[in-house]
Parts: sequence; structure tokens; C-alpha cells
Amino acid sequence: MKCVTGRLELRSELSLVERSDTGFVPTMGALHKGHLSLVECARKECRVVVVSIFVNPAQFDDRNDLRNYPRMEDRDVELLKSAGADIVFIPSVEEVYPEPDTRLFDFGDRGRVMEGATRPGHFNGVAQVVSRLFDLINPGRAYFGKKDFQQIAIVKAMVSQLGYKVEIVGCDTVRDEDGLALSSRNLLLDTEHRAAAPMIYTALKEGVRLSRSESVEEIEKRVRQSVERSPLLKVIYFEIVDAATLQQVRSWDDATEIQGCIAVKAGNIRLIDNIQFR
Ligand code: PAJ
Repeated sequence: MKCVTGRLELRSELSLVERSDTGFVPTMGALHKGHLSLVECARKECRVVVVSIFVNPAQFDDRNDLRNYPRMEDRDVELLKSAGADIVFIPSVEEVYPEPDTRLFDFGDRGRVMEGATRPGHFNGVAQVVSRLFDLINPGRAYFGKKDFQQIAIVKAMVSQLGYKVEIVGCDTVRDEDGLALSSRNLLLDTEHRAAAPMIYTALKEGVRLSRSESVEEIEKRVRQSVERSPLLKVIYFEIVDAATLQQVRSWDDATEIQGCIAVKAGNIRLIDNIQFR
């Protein structure tokens, strides 16, 4: 496995590789089994697997969140070696943004709801960095986790707006044994909040079970209530949406694929999760 930090070195490593052979997994490091499942997926489907580790300042709307974001590069590199990655790209901010990226994207209503509504500028920063990385790596396939359900929709929109020839592959959410979706931010939870957090997925599953007999409105109310039964958890949003448009549905017949997406504050830590309803 090669570790590279420079754009030129990366280009030379990839110069003899066909785009169709290149699988790319973008990450912000502090890797866990969720990230590694994306690498495994890429490993099965692509001849050359490139993983990036870059904590992208452009997508943080909260300075403290950026400052506290966990960083553990040496350990990450070891994990990626074992997972069978071929190239790990760990650039500096200057390497990714030699000049400030001033592009403003508009992803329509998909970008204005949920994470888009509660984290101003977040998806613009995600689109900027993913597009920069696509320019440098030129992958045939790129792997993203369904844990960040809206992020996949935004990346697909960006790909279609900018005309990239890359297939976006969505991979299932990997969870801890107690159901909590793995996230680098879980490391920042104290013992009590970590103990409360699995309620998020429990409430989502309960919501799906009850959705056979209850209305969308009732399920929205019940999921919020179940999560907030813990005084340590505060729901930022819970929305039951058309999986294609990300707009809220009023009834279970409004769309063929329906997803429930939630964001929760556990103390100072923001956690997100989602579940398929239909
Ligand atoms: P990060 O949060 O590090 O996640 C990197 C990738 O891992 C994303 O595609 C994310 O959806 C996926 N992932 C995270 N937790 C997962 C889990 N429990 N199961 C499956 N996949 C999971 O998402 C980002 O970084 C950034 O926004 C990035 C796309 C790298 C752009 O900076």
C-alpha cells in the first residue's frame, strides 16, 4: 500500500491505471468498520482501490466540531493496509485547495432540507471536496455509506451537474452490536450519552414496525417521543421522506421508496441515522 500526500505523486501513481479500474473511498479518517466496509466493497469490484483521508474544513459549519474532529492517521493507515487498500491519499488543506474554492452549488430542494437546512454550507463543502478529489483521482466507481443518506443524493446531483463519469455506489450502514450506527463522532460521546444513543435506532425500528398500522404523522411523533424519552437526547429533526426527492411525504402511498431520516444531539455531539420504511 502506498501513502501519498501530494497531488503530483498521486497523479503519477495513477498514471497507468484505467479510470474503469479505479475505485475510490473518500473519508475524513478516524476509521471504523463502516469505512472499512466501503473499502471491502471497492476491493471486490475494482482493481485499484484509493482511499482519501482529509478532514475537509469547507464542510464544517461549526468551528468546534472541526477542531474536535478525531484524528488518528497512523492507526487509520494500518487499518487500511489490512483492509487491502492500494493507495491512501492524505493531503494537506493547501494540496486540496491551492486556491480557495468559491464555487456555489445549488442542489434544489434536496439540498435545502434536513442536513441542508440545519447545517448551512455543509453540502456545498462536501460537493467542493468530492469534486476536487474526483478531479485528482478520476475514479470509475466511488463508494459512499447510506448512513449519510442525503449526502449520497447530493453527490449524485453534483456528479450529474458537473458531468463526471463515475458510478456512485451506496453501501449499507454498519452498526455496533447495540444498533448505534458507527460514526467517527461516537468516539466523542461520554459514557452516559454513548449508553443512551442506541435508542435512536431502536426508535427508528419501532417506527417501521408501527408504520403498518399508523399514519406518517403519528410515526413522526412517536419516533421523536421515544428518542426524547432519554433526557440526554434531543431530536434536531426526524423526517419521513420520498427517498428520491428527499421531500416529506404525508401518506405511505405518496412514494414507492420512503426513508426516515433523523438527526439527534447527544450532549454536544450530533448524530444522524436513517431507516427504510418502504
Ligand atoms: P466520513 O464521515 O469519514 O465518512 C466517509 C464515508 O464512510 C461516507 O461515505 C460515510 O457515509 C461512510 N460511513 C460512515 N459511517 C458509516 C457506517 N456506519 N456504515 C457505512 N458507511 C459509513 O462522509 C464523509 O466522511 C465526508 O463528508 C466525505 C464524503 C469524505 C467528504 O469530505
